Amino acid sequence: MIKKIKKILKKKNKSKIVCLTAYSKNIAEILDRYCDIILVGDSLSSVLYGMKSTREVSLEMMILHAKSVRQGISKSTFVVDMPYKSYRNKIEAYKNAKKVMKETKCDALKLEGGMKIFPIVKHLVEKNIPIMGHIGLLPQSERGKFRYKGKSKIERKNIFKDAISLEKAGVFSIVIECVETSLAKLISKSIKVPTIGIGASEECDGQILVTDDLIGLTTNPPKFVKKYLNIKVLINKTISKYRQDVINRKFPTKKNLY
Ligand code: KIV
Repeated sequence: MIKKIKKILKKKNKSKIVCLTAYSKNIAEILDRYCDIILVGDSLSSVLYGMKSTREVSLEMMILHAKSVRQGISKSTFVVDMPYKSYRNKIEAYKNAKKVMKETKCDALKLEGGMKIFPIVKHLVEKNIPIMGHIGLLPQSERGKFRYKGKSKIERKNIFKDAISLEKAGVFSIVIECVETSLAKLISKSIKVPTIGIGASEECDGQILVTDDLIGLTTNPPKFVKKYLNIKVLINKTISKYRQDVINRKFPTKKNLY
């Protein structure tokens, strides 16, 4: 098992795991100083491309962004999302997983689903591809409005089973998205691999957010997001200043000339 994966596993019950998403080198370079895991999420569908669903993301898009992010990472564990319809069976999953690993030099891949994808995850792990699971709200399979999971008894039972099944398949961590607190707590206490929450309470072993949500680049982020910065205000001020300088012939100055 590679060192960076072991490092994440060792954090369980010791220290919280800090994770964020990145879609480009410049952001990854900043995050790398502070994060244990950097994820190229297929959330780039809506966040960057204005797509309606993560189902519209291709393998090529993920590879292109991951290649950029790779250049910004030196210490964090680097994870890339496998997009929709890229892991429907063992053969397809292994072929595409190998391609992503080889072309992006990432440390691990993330797949959405639990019991249903058990054989696929197990197969990839057996082929030495480190896998991060993702349970609870699954944007690749969701139809209609997103809502939190774990309301009904049957839903809770199935999400719990998903977690157990992924642990059995050999994942090194599991993202739990939009899940009711007591269920996230139960899962985190019941499995040996770290859980990474997004809208799943402080009971998880780590937290992940979409960086663009946290810095205020997106509009109307979900309730579970804490907006740490309104970067749009800063950008607006800066661009307005640039505009004034150009109009008033204050830019470029002698310093900027050849
Ligand atoms: O696509 C994504 O960015 C994700 C995380 C937010 C967990 O899956």
